Amino acid sequence: MEMNNQKQQVLLVTGGSRGIGRSIAINAAKRGIGVILTYNNHPEEGEAVVHEINGSGGKAFALQLESANIGSFNVFVVSLSQLLKKEWNRENFDYLVNNAGIAQRTLIKDTTEEIFDELVNVNFKGVFFLTQKLIPLIADGGEIINISSGLARFAFPGVAVYGALKSGIETLTRYFAKEFADRKIRVNTVAPGPIDTGFGGGKGDEEHRRQIANMTALGRLGEADDVGLFIVSLLSDNSRFVNAQRIEVGGGILI
Ligand SMILES: NC(=O)c1ccc[n+]([C@@H]2O[C@H](COP(=O)([O-])OP(=O)(O)OC[C@H]3O[C@@H](n4cnc5c(N)ncnc54)[C@H](OP(=O)(O)O)[C@@H]3O)[C@@H](O)[C@H]2O)c1
Repeated sequence: MEMNNQKQQVLLVTGGSRGIGRSIAINAAKRGIGVILTYNNHPEEGEAVVHEINGSGGKAFALQLESANIGSFNVFVVSLSQLLKKEWNRENFDYLVNNAGIAQRTLIKDTTEEIFDELVNVNFKGVFFLTQKLIPLIADGGEIINISSGLARFAFPGVAVYGALKSGIETLTRYFAKEFADRKIRVNTVAPGPIDTGFGGGKGDEEHRRQIANMTALGRLGEADDVGLFIVSLLSDNSRFVNAQRIEVGGGILI
């Protein structure tokens, strides 16, 4: 990467306070990467991850971010810039993982405009505008990873809007890669299969979990680290020629 080797590389991961984002933050820190994670409603969970990383010799900080509040992004960028300057003496950072997301299980016939708008704002509009605001702060040769879902490839009842928005994220990834290519910024999508994080309001009953396992070649649901470890493996020169791709991390579900 075209960056000063003396400087610690820095990752910004949205929604890094729990689930997949937490795993990304912790595993990146284990690899020696400085971490800035965001939380939204649960500062104590964000601080717990920061505490865990700092207690193991890593370097991490947490900032609040509401992805649906586009109007707050300018202030967020100022806070981020100040943190980078103060803690790393840097004007920029290297890796952005757009991980924060929400799901709402609702059949098409029951989907209200309010639910629809919330899903759009967090899962798509927020990703677009946050990246737009952050791109001047991402180092040349840096990397962006957007999080999609297996539900962009296969369909289950109740997640139509969510699945369609994740398809949008996959397309957006290719456009990001195209427009940011002049700065050699790579942009890829990672699409997790069902991961056991409680995402979207619950871990499901045993029967549901067994059904998912039976649809999956590797015979189980995913864990947060299945995705986090993979994403962190992408944050390196080992994947330096991988660009504008969608990679599913789902144990071979519905193949
Ligand atoms: N788990 C799965 O089965 C699965 C499968 C495929 C794709 N994914 C995708 O993977 C990503 C992470 O999922 P996860 O399972 O790790 O989720 P999770 O455990 O529910 O964690 C969500 C994270 O996002 C933050 N967040 C939620 N709403 C936000 C908002 N409006 N603005 C900013 N941050 C917000 C949360 O912060 P607070 O708690 O502080 O609000 C938390 O840090 C999402 O993009 C999801 O769509 C998940």
